[in-house]
Amino acid sequence: MAKSSKKKTRYECTACGAQHAQWMGRCPTCGEWNTLEELRPAPSRTSRERTGGARPVAIAEVRSEDAARLPTGIGELDRALGGGPVRGGVILLGGDPGIGKSTLLMQALASMHARGAEALYITGEESASQVAMRARRIGGAGMGGVKILATTELADAEEALDASKPQVAVIDSIQTLRASATASPGSVSQLREVASALIDLAKRHGVALFLIGHVTKEGTIAGPKVLEHLVDTVLSFEGDRSHAFRVVRATKNRFGPAQEIGVFEMDRDGLREVPDPSTLFLAERPEQASGSVVVSTAEGSRPLLVELQALVAPCQYGAPRRVVSGLDANRLNILLAVLDRRADLRVLDRDVFASVAGGARVDERAADLAIALAVASSFSRRPLPPQLAVFGELGLAGELRAVPRPGPRIAEARKLGFEHVLLPAANADRLTPKEREGVTLLTARSLGEALERALS
Ligand code: TYD
Ligand code: MG
Repeated sequence: MAKSSKKKTRYECTACGAQHAQWMGRCPTCGEWNTLEELRPAPSRTSRERTGGARPVAIAEVRSEDAARLPTGIGELDRALGGGPVRGGVILLGGDPGIGKSTLLMQALASMHARGAEALYITGEESASQVAMRARRIGGAGMGGVKILATTELADAEEALDASKPQVAVIDSIQTLRASATASPGSVSQLREVASALIDLAKRHGVALFLIGHVTKEGTIAGPKVLEHLVDTVLSFEGDRSHAFRVVRATKNRFGPAQEIGVFEMDRDGLREVPDPSTLFLAERPEQASGSVVVSTAEGSRPLLVELQALVAPCQYGAPRRVVSGLDANRLNILLAVLDRRADLRVLDRDVFASVAGGARVDERAADLAIALAVASSFSRRPLPPQLAVFGELGLAGELRAVPRPGPRIAEARKLGFEHVLLPAANADRLTPKEREGVTLLTARSLGEALERALS
């Protein structure tokens, strides 16, 4: 017995923390020649001891510890977070480089500091003076009191979090921190190690922790994706860099509803909230132009009107081109096939370009009808009525299917002065009288009927 427990003794390298079964003088992991200190043998506990004797409890008997929220005071960000960050909650903010992640979180820290929170900004991307220079330019109450630490060492970050016990902290970015001097930052294992150490610390000290993660060019490798299951909330910061609009979207949230969005505009001095984005997204809509359709989307709890545009052109050489921006290219291809087969619109041999105006992104199935109508309108060179907003999902048989939250979609259209709303009949059948008020509802059961209503 004694022999087998001796066998289990492990040793930990004091330089890199790697554990080894044998003392070998030089650490086989980091190559450091140092004292390998004996580590306590991992205690072999029974599973009963490990769970601490946990027993199932009825939901009604569970004491709910209301998550203590620390609102940032930036309404659009708090909305996306379901009310604000939570003490001990870890939020991952992902997005393309240059989209405005550092700016957004610096503004959030300043605003939280102005509301009395101790705030710490840890950056491995820029020097403290670069960060300070930008922070001063953005300004805002509380900016001067945000503490900055410029480091690429995890140990420094841990020490700072331990010592200054902030209520909120930002790590910019998680990819630039490294767990030991010899490891290279940015690898998947490094990323996970750094993140779990920081998450552990945030939970212990009750820090609301934001981790910035760059979406890497190669897609998901060593990007924020590999951390999503570790954190409580995942925010993605989206937008087209050639436009000023930015949308922050919660794709996962243990402390609130997912899919909530907040809308911002990038300005010379930082990000500005856009409390009424529909107005902004429709601001430059052309009058009486074919191929332009207003869709009433509902991402999260917020309805939002955006303009979809399509351009159908003769295909010059080879295979017809399909270029999209802000839309799913596969979905467009499916809808083109549906238009061809179910509505006899011969679009399959044409070049088709489709985009969401203003650099927004629409991922909802409820936008199907709008995409199909935009293509049909451009193809037939007939504009839709200017006061028409539409929504509805299309099936492969050309049927128009009901979508969630028709009421708020209609309400948003009404609010912006749209007189007509084209929607699936199945949605219209279940509306309350109040939801029907103030607009004329045009209903359809199929793509064919919808084309008739909108384009005749
Ligand atoms: P940044 O927050 O550094 O992006 P990220 O951290 O996601 O890489 O912002 C990058 C861009 O935003 C940069 O190209 C310049 C622009 N910007 C403004 O237009 N106005 C501003 O006030 C700031 C701070 C940045
Ligand atoms: Mg940055």
